[in-house]
Amino acid sequence: DKGEYRHFMLKEIHEQPRVVRRTLEGRLGDGQVLVEAFGPGAAELFARVRNVQIVACGTSYHAGMVARYWLEELAGVPCQVEVASEFRYRKVAVQPDSLFVSISQSGETADTLAALRNARDAGYLASLAICNVAISSLVRESDLTLLTQAGPEIGVASTKAFTTQLVALMLLTLSLGQARATLDRGVEAELVSELRCLPTRLGEALAMDAVIEQVAEFFADKHHTLFLGRGAQYPVAMEGALKLKEISYIHAEAYPAGELKHGPLALVDSDMPVVTVAPNNELVEKLKSNLQEVRARGGELIVFADVRAGLENGEGIRLVNMPHISDALAPILYTIPLQLLSYHVAVFKGTDVDQPRNLAKSVTVE
Ligand code: M6R
Repeated sequence: DKGEYRHFMLKEIHEQPRVVRRTLEGRLGDGQVLVEAFGPGAAELFARVRNVQIVACGTSYHAGMVARYWLEELAGVPCQVEVASEFRYRKVAVQPDSLFVSISQSGETADTLAALRNARDAGYLASLAICNVAISSLVRESDLTLLTQAGPEIGVASTKAFTTQLVALMLLTLSLGQARATLDRGVEAELVSELRCLPTRLGEALAMDAVIEQVAEFFADKHHTLFLGRGAQYPVAMEGALKLKEISYIHAEAYPAGELKHGPLALVDSDMPVVTVAPNNELVEKLKSNLQEVRARGGELIVFADVRAGLENGEGIRLVNMPHISDALAPILYTIPLQLLSYHVAVFKGTDVDQPRNLAKSVTVE
């Protein structure tokens, strides 16, 4: 039931504060994450983990890409991320004491399942599924599970599944950091309190819907777009580009902002809008110079930036101010305006938002 919403996708976008809260429920203690949420014995197991291998497809793969930044930076664990369709068909050199993590909304994606099955005898410490469906093949066949509590996702374009996956992966990062004693307890406590506020921040981002709808109008006659991000916002840009192509059929590509002058800048002109996610972190100054490069070629910029980033609206720059949030949680918050953007572009174009052409919700065959 879509309720008051015109599409399932819009309903699911707006459910995010609630389902993120639900995904956190019972998993946070006093200033620390409850590692046992991953199952009995998880703390002992996690203490032994020296490497993480993540495997997933599509949007779930993007969640894994964000997690790599978190796991390496916050928990000090080396991490590799790969799309399941590649991982399953190659000989992987398994790192010692490596945890195999699969991420999937449905838990039935053929490539992800095949990757898990291949991993079984490959010498991993254990397998962990981050999944939205309790009764799924992936959950049944993994040693450990952390369920995302997104509820049923009907829209083919994944939205609330992604943000709850990110929350689950942040819980994994904190748990590994705690169990391995590689994360400062003060930093852990700080992140736990920020996680508790996250649903409120997401609600604030959703309240900008009308502003984003206006921005979306500008895309209705465009055929190509670039999405730029740096650090953990690069996978967020990838996810934004995937959403736009899936439901509005506009060609969209994501680049880490620093790669711009290594090729894609050649494409930039006034018909090629450039969408940038720019939170207020140490990379923002670098991003500002990337933005100037785009402006110098007549490129139209759409910038989602922290209110404190010191960016200004101007000729050819449409700025959308985002609520302030810590760097660590910024990827979750900045996903919201990109979801809304692609939703409204698709509505302007009149495409089938919930059931895009050529796509299925669950890819259970190769
Ligand atoms: O159910 P899964 O998370 O394993 O599905 C993976 C992808 O098929 C899925 O995320 C797909 O990319 C979505 N349509 C993206 O919106």
